[in-house]
Amino acid sequence: MKITVVGAGFYGSTTVQRIAEANYADEVVMVDILEGKPQGLALDMMQARSIEDFDTRVVGSNSYEETANSDICVITAGLPRKPGMSRMDLLEVNAKIVSEVTRSLVEVSPNSILVIVSNPLDEMTALAAKVSGFAPERVMGQAGMLDTARFKHFVAEKVGARPQDVVALTLGSHGETMVPVPSQVTVQGKALSDVLTAGDIEELVQKTRDGGAEIVGLLKTGSAYYAPSSAAAHMVKAIATDSKEQMPVCAMVNGEYGINDVYLGVPAIIGAKGVEKVVELDITDEEKNELVQAGDTVRAKQADVEQFI
Ligand code: APR
Repeated sequence: MKITVVGAGFYGSTTVQRIAEANYADEVVMVDILEGKPQGLALDMMQARSIEDFDTRVVGSNSYEETANSDICVITAGLPRKPGMSRMDLLEVNAKIVSEVTRSLVEVSPNSILVIVSNPLDEMTALAAKVSGFAPERVMGQAGMLDTARFKHFVAEKVGARPQDVVALTLGSHGETMVPVPSQVTVQGKALSDVLTAGDIEELVQKTRDGGAEIVGLLKTGSAYYAPSSAAAHMVKAIATDSKEQMPVCAMVNGEYGINDVYLGVPAIIGAKGVEKVVELDITDEEKNELVQAGDTVRAKQADVEQFI
């Protein structure tokens, strides 16, 4: 199993570390345009092998030759937000980077599965799909895993439970039209509406939508990467181990929920073939309407992005 991660910044390098330490891959290649950075970080991680007890080889490079025949490629290259910026403000600059990176990756790894994390996420995923020419199930974006983990965190903090005992879900876009789905949320098996008031739930939904911005505001330079890299590494592991786990990802939706032809956050079964099935959950009419609206908004933006190819 060979995995490439493009971008040796905070998100990329932490993702590489998580994958390497999980010890299922033979090799992880980390690519960046900055000379020496991926090589230095790779060397540093390799020197942790005897302590952390993993055998995965970590290789740093500034070229794509080393990435040839990767099974899975993760794209984290691009600028992160600064305080006050929306993810959409990164569109033009990151579209150029993601196009160029995708082209270089697929040339040498034509059979790989792509996992996109660069922002704005839904647009960058659609762009990578277009540039790669890959079948839609072989391209997915990471957003729902992270947004769901944030939702679980806020619910757990509010009610005094472990986040592991919270079942939660967010759908839609990784941005303004994120659709947290309270009807699917349970705490220790109890419906969220039995545990919290409607006002409390709305507050947690809003905190989830603003989860990334809150961290950007605190950090002042750069954006979140610990929970994001956990989410991306979890998706990579599901593909690598053919786990068939159901998780929220940004996937091509064609027919499900009455939505067509858009990369959008939906629950899906993830395995060796990529997005093996988009799962239609029994959500409320209101949640479904919000999802349809998110689909319309994201579809329009995804069409805009094609000018940067
Ligand atoms: N090819 C390869 N690497 C590139 C390219 C490129 N064309 N352009 C930029 N990079 C690299 C930068 O050199 C930098 O090392 O991408 C890395 C980005 O790292 P950070 O600035 O630390 O940003 P990070 O926090 O990792 O976020 C990366 O993920 O969450 C999103 O919004 C975030 O789009 C951003 C991405």
